[in-house]
Amino acid sequence: MASRVIPVDPFDLVIFGGTGDLARRKILPGLYRRFKHGQIPPDARIIGAARSDMTTKEFRDFVEQSVREFVPKQKCDPKILTPFLDSLSYVAVDALGDQGWGDLAGLMRPDVVQAFYFSVGPSLFGPIAERLKSNAIAGDEARIVVEKPFGHDLDSARDLNATLAQHFTEHQIYRIDHYLGKETVQNLMALRFGNMLFEPLWNAQYVDHIQITVAETVGVAGRGAYYDRSGAMRDMVQNHLMQLLCLTAMEPPSKFDPDAVRDEKLKVIRALDPVEPDDLVRGQYRGNDDIASYIQDAEATDSQTESFVAMKLHISNWRWNGTPFYLRTGKRLRARMSEIVVRFKEPPHSIFEEDTGQTANELSIRLQPNEGMDLKVTIKEPGPGGMRLIDVPLDMTFAEALGEEVADVPDAYERLIMDVIRGNQTLFMRGDEVEAAWAWTDPIIEGWQDRRDTPHGYDAFSSGPEEALMLLHKDGRRWRELRE
Ligand code: BG6
Repeated sequence: MASRVIPVDPFDLVIFGGTGDLARRKILPGLYRRFKHGQIPPDARIIGAARSDMTTKEFRDFVEQSVREFVPKQKCDPKILTPFLDSLSYVAVDALGDQGWGDLAGLMRPDVVQAFYFSVGPSLFGPIAERLKSNAIAGDEARIVVEKPFGHDLDSARDLNATLAQHFTEHQIYRIDHYLGKETVQNLMALRFGNMLFEPLWNAQYVDHIQITVAETVGVAGRGAYYDRSGAMRDMVQNHLMQLLCLTAMEPPSKFDPDAVRDEKLKVIRALDPVEPDDLVRGQYRGNDDIASYIQDAEATDSQTESFVAMKLHISNWRWNGTPFYLRTGKRLRARMSEIVVRFKEPPHSIFEEDTGQTANELSIRLQPNEGMDLKVTIKEPGPGGMRLIDVPLDMTFAEALGEEVADVPDAYERLIMDVIRGNQTLFMRGDEVEAAWAWTDPIIEGWQDRRDTPHGYDAFSSGPEEALMLLHKDGRRWRELRE
């Protein structure tokens, strides 16, 4: 089944931090793939901008290498790569000075979509935004894309919002959370609001609890300096897990449009109860003879930063009152596995004999790997010998069900960059949403600091600290097993 590709309008896309790690790994290979699929028109232009002196030829060599490294060999077509590289140019700019801005102004076309990707640290957002305006580079319809982390806490996020608002209106600002670009995350909305089957049961009356897991096997080596100041709470929970929670818990928006969706997500964040200390578990991975510990990876002498968090949340609203949401995320865990699990309640009365093996229905939505979903249903065990019940999965792995084409869907960054060019903000965070997420996160982090909380150790490649298992055990529940 071939997917439909609708080309976007011609554009000039400037990538500040165009020679940085994110550009090299995600943005540039992603643009190549969209070009290859015919979504980027031939007259679109991509302009790398960074501090280092580099010619356009050198930048094209750099991009060629990044495409060869990060696009699978069989998808790298020399006949496509050449025209793609031809659409690239480079300009050296000093984000804090005057150098290069005139050159950049000279490159921009006034009659195409203008987009500026700030793939730089947040301290440069303000200076770049200001120079784009003072040099008359960005027009009134220009779009800017800003990366996470969007601030370090509520105050810094407010400051960033205020700084950007001096130069750009909210409808020009695209705050990226790449989890929103993941195919299955969008599928969650299709599943909930495109079917009649689930939504009537999607509430406290029928749902026992919900689990959201984002488990990684990687450690923090190579980015310890950033990570040690953030920890899992700021790096993952405030943004990615919060977005998954919002999409799972929100009310149906009246339509799939940016403000309708973001209004509903904001209401979820605002309805979150403060989290009790007993409902929070922090962990930090230990090492062994073969595997570095968190402290070694972070190149710290001592650190109380968490590489794992688990928590139990309550949403105080009509739909979810009494249904706990359990969240966990961590590095160096047993498996790379991200999923949302909706565990339904058991039938109110069993007509079968005791202990038939019947359990509750469970819907699990897998974000990665093997995107898909499965629904656990109870059936009669085939054969004679009475009425014994067993649970079987109704499994749908999207790649199997929809064919190979689906294995070639755009990755999160590709999808989101194309949405920027199309001017669609639905999958980007609004300023008030980011602030609300920090307003909920800050007291948790402050509580840890006030209580001088120390993270529990856990073995590398385990399921996380024992205490995280207990968080559910004490409620008579269990986490889904971590497995790929
Ligand atoms: C990033 C975090 O935002 O998301 C990383 O900073 C994390 O620490 C990454 O590893 C996870 O993204 P993905 O797409 O690999 O699940």
